[in-house]
Amino acid sequence: MIDYSQKIPNNVDLSHDKRLQRALEKWQPDYIDWWRSMGPTDFNEKEIYLRTAVSVEKNGWAQFDYVQMPDYRWGIFLQPAEAGRTIGFGDHQGQEAWQEVPGEYRNWLRRLIVTQADTEPASVEQQRLLGHTAPSLYDLRNLFQVNVEEGRHLWAMVYLLHSYFGRDGREEASELLERRSGNADHPRILGTFNEPCEDWLSFFCFAMFTDRDGKFQLLSLAESGFDPLARTCRFMLTEEAHHLFVGQTGVGRVIKRTAELLAEGKDPREEGAIPFEVIQKYIHFWCSSSNDLYGAEVSSNGANFFRSGIKGRAYEDRYEDHQALNDSYEITQVEGGRLTTEEVPLRNAMNEVLRDEFVKDNLKGVEYWNRIVEKAGLEYRFRLPHRRFNRSIGVYANHHFDLDGNIIDAAAFEAKKHEWLPTDEDREYVKSLMQKVTEQGKYAAWISPPPKGVNGQPIDFEYVRL
Ligand SMILES: [Fe+2]
Ligand SMILES: [Fe+2]
Repeated sequence: MIDYSQKIPNNVDLSHDKRLQRALEKWQPDYIDWWRSMGPTDFNEKEIYLRTAVSVEKNGWAQFDYVQMPDYRWGIFLQPAEAGRTIGFGDHQGQEAWQEVPGEYRNWLRRLIVTQADTEPASVEQQRLLGHTAPSLYDLRNLFQVNVEEGRHLWAMVYLLHSYFGRDGREEASELLERRSGNADHPRILGTFNEPCEDWLSFFCFAMFTDRDGKFQLLSLAESGFDPLARTCRFMLTEEAHHLFVGQTGVGRVIKRTAELLAEGKDPREEGAIPFEVIQKYIHFWCSSSNDLYGAEVSSNGANFFRSGIKGRAYEDRYEDHQALNDSYEITQVEGGRLTTEEVPLRNAMNEVLRDEFVKDNLKGVEYWNRIVEKAGLEYRFRLPHRRFNRSIGVYANHHFDLDGNIIDAAAFEAKKHEWLPTDEDREYVKSLMQKVTEQGKYAAWISPPPKGVNGQPIDFEYVRL
């Protein structure tokens, strides 16, 4: 038996919800089994300085203490309900928000929730071995913080499946523990979540770009007319901000270390650091792979989700027109080997609208990195690849583009590929640097220490008791 109020912090009145209790009693042991086999298994007995959300109040959502990860209190939190909330966009705009799943949109909603949910355990699986090569205790702790919170995000989505989708919801919840990242027979749903993430530069890029896709998916679901989904996603966004911080500052610290060496006239490779060109290639890879997560540029699914009021645009309140019926969006297409433009109804371009926000947000991160380079007095500047570069989904897949989005032929791409994307040698080199550093206050040679520690603690704090 589970002691609900203690073991599973929540604001969904779990101790009085018999139906949810029954569903969780079956699912929770399977989840723990999954964590113990597919999570960061070799660190399950270690004490980690982690934050846990124990309530949605200002002081309650980030309580810090030493915890063994399998004992982490994965909770269920929704942002408090807003009295009289109405649907903010689409054909049902102005109607009362749904507290139950509207029958006609049940399948679409379930699919959106399952797709989001699937990314959460996937990322834990992708990152499960990184603990062995952490560059410091500070970074090790951040990795585990991200991991347990992705676990909580899975709980958040499973809560919705269990509470609102009956038997098929329970089946979907079980299957979320059965798919495996990178498994050829039973893979995770989305491509990026099957990519190996075996070194820390990949991890930081993942947290920068792939978690940022998560941010924008959550922002658009936070607008949903299905109120429990909207409220769940709003709370998840508070945690997601930390993951993006880990990514952006992680890449930033790798850049800073290399920049300092270059400024001293040293060769980064000789000092065991990562050359800018290699970092830039990793950025190209993870950014382009994450661009794919938004789906096709022209999408009738996207139009349906918007029309029905189940998935809006990020920051819907910044728009004046929440119908999106009269406007169009200019999509660049490929026709006969040339780029052409086509006007499509705005509702059909919702994926692209969301990708626009993603690109804008990424640019801020790149500016942050370039300030580090500039401060070191160097000329080099980091960049994003054009959104058409290296795509596997949408109108640009099956064509080749350079970093600026110019169409090129397959031979030209092949000739340049080693300059644009990580080569086997690059990956081998980066991997060769991944030696764990576990002494308090010590940092690996390829990354600079953070300017400050976690929760006001010093940077040489014992973040993990090994
Ligand atoms: Fe997440
Ligand atoms: Fe995340």
